[in-house]
Order: sequence, then structure tokens, then C-alpha cells
Amino acid sequence: MTNKYKYFVANWKMFGNIKSTDTINRVIKLSKQKNLKKVKIIYCPPYTLLSIFIKKLVNTNIDVGAQNCHQSQNDGPYTGSINSQMIKNLGCKYVIVGHSENRTNGDNNYLINQKIKSSLSNNLNVLFCIGENIKEKKSKRTKLVLKTQLTKGLNKVKNIDKIIIAYEPVWSIGSGLVPKNKELIGNIFFIKNFLKKKFKKSNPKVLYGGSVNSKNIKNLSLIKEIDGFLIGGASQRSNKFIDIIKKTFN
Ligand code: PGA
Repeated sequence: MTNKYKYFVANWKMFGNIKSTDTINRVIKLSKQKNLKKVKIIYCPPYTLLSIFIKKLVNTNIDVGAQNCHQSQNDGPYTGSINSQMIKNLGCKYVIVGHSENRTNGDNNYLINQKIKSSLSNNLNVLFCIGENIKEKKSKRTKLVLKTQLTKGLNKVKNIDKIIIAYEPVWSIGSGLVPKNKELIGNIFFIKNFLKKKFKKSNPKVLYGGSVNSKNIKNLSLIKEIDGFLIGGASQRSNKFIDIIKKTFN
């Protein structure tokens, strides 16, 4: 195994109830194996389950993150919303920002930038999602889209030490489709180069997300430029999630 951490982020989306949190017991057991020291597992359950996860995962090396946050740093009259301060206060270390399912729900680059800045000021690590949709891919605008999302999302952000990019082509989320290796390597390379130039950071972290499963993980794990995976559907059941983690290294 390399010296670098490999990230496995479980994005449960709007799934899960109190009973389903039992499924993580097997992942906790797995995370204690010595040969998995360089694996960083992060659970991002719905808001309703965050405190249960935090209690269950205390004294483990598994971290917890929220799936989104409100852009305001302070409390305020925003019914149904939760800010980064609240997420931090609960004991989360991470927050997902810019997921395409929230972009289609109204999160534009400006709002995403506000959310990132507010999360950083509350000392959270940000899993910043970017990716092109099928129309943009077909018209060969992928790199332009990635550049715009990065430039606007990271506007006035000075330091990306606490930012991990999750490259998630919209067309591959939940569809069973995954980019060809060559295309994926090219896009990851493009993102890393952009960040290296802009932030003078030698090793920016970039994850891949979109239909990762126990069948395609062997092939995806061959791509050394990928620092880990953001996993939706296949992360909700421990057996599948564990399979993915194990197959990455064997
Ligand atoms: P998926 O979701 O693995 O179900 O495609 C990934 C994501 O949306 O983060």
C-alpha cells in the first residue's frame, strides 16, 4: 500500500433510518485492521442520523460528515437549514458541498463558494463536488465546466489544505456508467494541475465519484491519480462497501 491515504466516503443521500445504522458495525471492525492504516473512511449520513453516527464512531478512526450546509456562517431565520457551525458543533469533521443533486436544486457556483468559505471558517474539511453533465460532455466542454466550477467555487479561498475535490461526472451518478480510464485520468490530471498552479500546492487530493461498485473498483483502483472514492448507492450496505474497500488493495 502507498504512503498516501485512500479515502472512502459513504454518501448515504436521503436513505437510512435508526435501524440501518447497525450496518456500520462491520465497517468499524474492518477499520481496525492493521493493514488498513492508510485508509480514511468517512460516513456522510442524512442530518437526522449524524449524532448517532458520531456516537457510534467515537474512538474509531472513521470520521463523519454532513451532506450539505447553509451558506450563512451564523444562526438565522432559515427554516429547514443547518449551518457549518452547527455541523462542527455536533462533532463532524467533513461536509459535502456542491453535490450535483444540490446544484440541480438551486446551489449555484456563488452559493457553493459561500458554503465552502463558511465551512472552512468553522474548521471543517470540505468535500467539494464538481463534474460535467452529459450535454457538456457531448459538446466537449468538460474541462471548461470543471475550470469554471473550480474558479468560482474557490473564489477568495486562500488555502486548500482542508479541501478535497470529488470529481463526479453528473452522467455517471447512479447510472451504472463510469468514464473510460483515459478520460478519467485526463480530467483528474486537469483538476490537479489547475489546483497546483492556483494554490502552489504540490499534492491536491481528488476523489472520483459516480457508480463506484464492487465490480468496477478493481479497474478504478489502477488509476494512481485517484486519491479515493465518493460512493453513493454501494455504500449503504456494509457488505458492498467493505467489498469495495478490500478490492481496492487486493
Ligand atoms: P452513486 O452516487 O455512487 O450512487 O453513483 C455517488 C454520489 O452521488 O456521490
